[in-house]
Amino acid sequence: MDQLVKQIEQHKKEILALTLNNKEDLEAFRIKYLGTKGLLKLIMGEMKNVPADQKKEAGQLLNEFKIFTESFYEESLQGIGFTNKKLSALIDVTLPGESLPLGSRHPISIVHNKIVSIFQRLGFSIAEGPEIEDDWHNFTALNLPENHPARDMQDTFYISQNPDWLLRTHTSSVQIREMEKGNLPLRIICPGRVYRNETISARAHCFFNQVEGLYIAENVSFADLKQTLYFFVQEMFGNDVKVRFRPSYFPFTEPSAEMDISCLICNGEGCNVCKKTGWVEILGCGMVHPQVLDNCGIDSKKYTGFAFGMGVERITMLTYQVKDLRLFSENDVRFLKQFTNAV
Ligand code: PHE
Repeated sequence: MDQLVKQIEQHKKEILALTLNNKEDLEAFRIKYLGTKGLLKLIMGEMKNVPADQKKEAGQLLNEFKIFTESFYEESLQGIGFTNKKLSALIDVTLPGESLPLGSRHPISIVHNKIVSIFQRLGFSIAEGPEIEDDWHNFTALNLPENHPARDMQDTFYISQNPDWLLRTHTSSVQIREMEKGNLPLRIICPGRVYRNETISARAHCFFNQVEGLYIAENVSFADLKQTLYFFVQEMFGNDVKVRFRPSYFPFTEPSAEMDISCLICNGEGCNVCKKTGWVEILGCGMVHPQVLDNCGIDSKKYTGFAFGMGVERITMLTYQVKDLRLFSENDVRFLKQFTNAV
């Protein structure tokens, strides 16, 4: 019995001197002490040599040692560690807990979610489509037949196996897919990644994210388009921001416009971001070209619609005053973690 007490004391001391910092240490400990051929089993086996009148006491001692060994293992496993070398005070509950590192949302996701939720409140639903598209949905149906010069505006990545396949250059392709389904009226936004073969710089990348929108019903007017986008801008950037529409050209809309907002950095006074103009462009828009409606089997005499498209990176840069677009795809945690509590 005395020998058993001594043996257990000795093992306890040994164990308390240990720090199990990694998986290997933990596993070695488990095998040595708690395994099927481990020390605990071995000592338990010695119970049979203990005289009958001492069995109860020895049993208690062993049980306590078993609990001690197991909890040492459990605690080490949880990374809590032992702070007091006395069994009675193995856990110091007054110590501060170990905080778990918090992940953060990507700034593009934060802004994407905000854009999407604003349009959802206006009754737009989300439509998605493939990133590998065919020529019809990305170009031809959008009033860009083969050899149309406007195809050059979007440097396209083609897929070598099939000349008809490409990486979509805008999510207008999703709008075509939805229009072809013929469920009218249609009120959708199409968020997603798009690809253009552009030289990567602080202001351009070969892939980026868009949110495009489409509303088709009877009697939709340019006034509806303006009011919708004006609401969006106020929700996104606040009530003080000003907007202006400039005439523009897209083959799939007529008339077409680009929308600028007053520069958030200098409040319209002129700075580097707005190139001293006081305005920054944030999206393209227009009334859906009747030819596009006809291409999708929609009666252009009965229905009209508006469409718009914006780059999420651009809006994110304006929201957080990020000056280099490349930061969004480099996955540098020092950059990304700054957005943990944002918006
Ligand atoms: N598809 C255009 C682009 O990618 C944006 C746009 C969408 C413009 C809808 C007008 C109407 O640049």
